[in-house]
Amino acid sequence: MHAWFAFARMFWRTGIADLDARKDLGKARLLSRVVAKDTGTLSRRDAHVPCLLRIHFREALLQIVRWRDGVMEQDQRWTQAYLKLKGQWKLKPNWKLIEYLHLIPQGPVLDLGAGNGRNALFFAELGHEVDYVDISKTYSKRMKDRAEDANLALTAHNVDIRNFDIPEKHYALIIASKILQLFPKADIEDITEKMNAGLARKGLIYVYTFSVATLKHSKRLHELERVEENTYYHSKYRQHFHYFKSGELPSLFPRLRTIFYNEGTVHDLKKRDSRYDFTLEYLGQRVR
Ligand SMILES: C[S@@+](CC[C@H](N)C(=O)[O-])C[C@H]1O[C@@H](n2cnc3c(N)ncnc32)[C@H](O)[C@@H]1O
Repeated sequence: MHAWFAFARMFWRTGIADLDARKDLGKARLLSRVVAKDTGTLSRRDAHVPCLLRIHFREALLQIVRWRDGVMEQDQRWTQAYLKLKGQWKLKPNWKLIEYLHLIPQGPVLDLGAGNGRNALFFAELGHEVDYVDISKTYSKRMKDRAEDANLALTAHNVDIRNFDIPEKHYALIIASKILQLFPKADIEDITEKMNAGLARKGLIYVYTFSVATLKHSKRLHELERVEENTYYHSKYRQHFHYFKSGELPSLFPRLRTIFYNEGTVHDLKKRDSRYDFTLEYLGQRVR
């Protein structure tokens, strides 16, 4: 009886909007698990047939526990921010950042190579002060205008992240999504060292990047010039590409406690040549 009451109350409080956002989350997970199963990269623990209902049921149970623990208010805030961005600008933040939102302390957020700002805007909408860093003039200008229009505490820095001074012990969260692979190893080490030093106590680092497995499936390997182990240069794009070995990414954050780490597969159906990406996702927290 108590459970049914909790369900009814949960739906009433979270509303259809919240269910909409969670449906997206369910679909994203389902897709990534099916693909992982196809390519043999699914872990043994997850090797049973994925089931949307199971995912929703688990999400619903999680909701009840959270509601009971009094964090529903925060849940409603992220749902609203998520739907606003998805609806207005079709910008969805990385799901892992939503799943671990409860661990992110109050404080400033830094988004490196932030692109269209899907993560930066999400955290600005949640009330964090955000430093957005991107080398693209167009993106940075757009971000500055959006921040002004929406009255957000977001500062757009139009610089190369290698030249951006990260203040020490400052950030509650530092995001490097789909950016670290664009540098040679020495630069990656410099950038991640600055990221480590830039974290405030209990602060988190989130990285999304690509693994060496991508190389095996690349249709464009012949266009790349090998520079060093797992690092290539594309002369047309004048861009480096580093592909991370298993375990290499967490080793760049030796003083952090690993909260989440995954070496997985994503089937990107949106791309013209619908391709598999072999992804690495890391979330670590500074404990002291
Ligand atoms: C693949 S996008 C990722 C965007 C965003 N982080 C995301 O996850 O959607 C890479 C972004 O990094 C930016 N970028 C590339 N090299 C950079 C550099 N050296 N310094 C700063 N930004 C850079 C590009 O302009 C682009 O917006």
